[in-house]
Amino acid sequence: MKAKISINISDSISRIDKRLFGSFIEHLGRAVYGGIYQPDSEKADDMGFRKDVLELVRELNVPIVRYPGGNFVSGYNWEDGTGPKENRPQKLDLAWGTVETNQVGIDEFQEWAKRAGTEIMMAVNLGTRGPDQARQLVEYCNLDTDTYYANMRRKNGFEKPFGIKLWCLGNEMDGPWQIGAKTPVEYARIAHETAKLMKWTDDSIELVACGSSHLFMPTFGEWERTVLRECYDCVDYISLHNYYGNRNDDTEDYLGQSINMDRFIKTVAAICDEVKEEKGSEKTIGLSFDEWNVWFHSNEQDKQIPRWSYAPRQLEDIYNFEDALVVGTLLITLMNNADRVKIACLAQLVNVIAPIMTEDEGCWLQTIFYPFRDASVFGRGTALRVSIDCPSYSSSSLDEIPYLTASAADDGDTVTVFAVNRSLEEELELDTEGFEGMELVSHRSMECDDLKAVNSMDDPDRVTPSEKALGDRIVLAPHSWNVLRFKKLS
Ligand code: AHR
Repeated sequence: MKAKISINISDSISRIDKRLFGSFIEHLGRAVYGGIYQPDSEKADDMGFRKDVLELVRELNVPIVRYPGGNFVSGYNWEDGTGPKENRPQKLDLAWGTVETNQVGIDEFQEWAKRAGTEIMMAVNLGTRGPDQARQLVEYCNLDTDTYYANMRRKNGFEKPFGIKLWCLGNEMDGPWQIGAKTPVEYARIAHETAKLMKWTDDSIELVACGSSHLFMPTFGEWERTVLRECYDCVDYISLHNYYGNRNDDTEDYLGQSINMDRFIKTVAAICDEVKEEKGSEKTIGLSFDEWNVWFHSNEQDKQIPRWSYAPRQLEDIYNFEDALVVGTLLITLMNNADRVKIACLAQLVNVIAPIMTEDEGCWLQTIFYPFRDASVFGRGTALRVSIDCPSYSSSSLDEIPYLTASAADDGDTVTVFAVNRSLEEELELDTEGFEGMELVSHRSMECDDLKAVNSMDDPDRVTPSEKALGDRIVLAPHSWNVLRFKKLS
């Protein structure tokens, strides 16, 4: 099969905000305890952080990590995770039915973030708490004043403020599963008042209001409109969350799901602009796709976890090759919407629906690690508009799924094309247009005959990318993830 891919170097979508390649660490399962933090491990550093995990997070080049939840944050008292560790309370976490020891809190996490070379996207609790505790947390983290919460931080050993710039106003407040879930009007009001107090405390911060928990929420649309009408002037972004899964074992349909991500983004952007118009505002609301990934493999096994366990193996999806292809298509979709999506977080980072997995003896990498690393490392600079001309197919839930999906990033010296061939049987031969004056210098691809193949601690390199020999033709193997680097000749 043939496909034509065209770019025009001067036709860009937008600068790519580096925060498009963010991730997420929640107090959930083994993400924190046994993931980033394991003081009794031989891999631990002086603060108990796993050095092998830190190294891999740095390799992923993750610019921002959302913390501490997720559903967890809606029942969390941030003060529990500060001060001397021996005084910290052990508490029930109603979101995940587990026990939280509070041995890691913002004091430790901000240090972990520094060591990982990343920044924090901090969420406040709008489930069981409200504006007062949120503004106190902003003071604790960001202020240099001689006042109670800033002094509390100093007393805990941190003279300098942490300087956290990006904050989430709660988490998935539209979801009945959320502790303290709200109606659109209830959330809009509390988000507005919380935003006001947080920004009055530190006017340099940016705020993300909760949008819908997924595209098919019954309140989708109405939620965004209500929240934005109320909060337009005091928030900077609205969130989108969505998880994907091959629940019906229908690979062709699964590979097309990024089309739903694209629709979701475009619909939310349209609602933002409709409210902008209503208000006659000059300001454009950005989108923060701060939870996205594949999540379905572990759903059944998680039902067996005994209640009130400590750091159980929870949400430990083992990703196969087709999941990595889907993650590739989702990354391409995010890049192609870089004009509106400024922040996106692969949920999550370690052990919990994650690219990095730990065992006592070391780490291993899931299949999804590789497309995420490729996009995060090479997807910087300017997103170029990519036109594709190729055959398409229909699946059980979608019409017109193009066999080829692709995005392109121009970092000044090199244009990197990310591409997935969705065809299960046929190679795609690429006809390129607009690449004159450039030389193809590398073609890395992830290919595997078995779509269900997985990596594991015992077989860590079952599915990995490899360099392809360059020839006269550019050929994308059936069901493959591809990274093509075109160097500009001066
Ligand atoms: O990432 C796992 C969970 O998914 C988060 O806690 C929640 O926000 C979402 O439902």
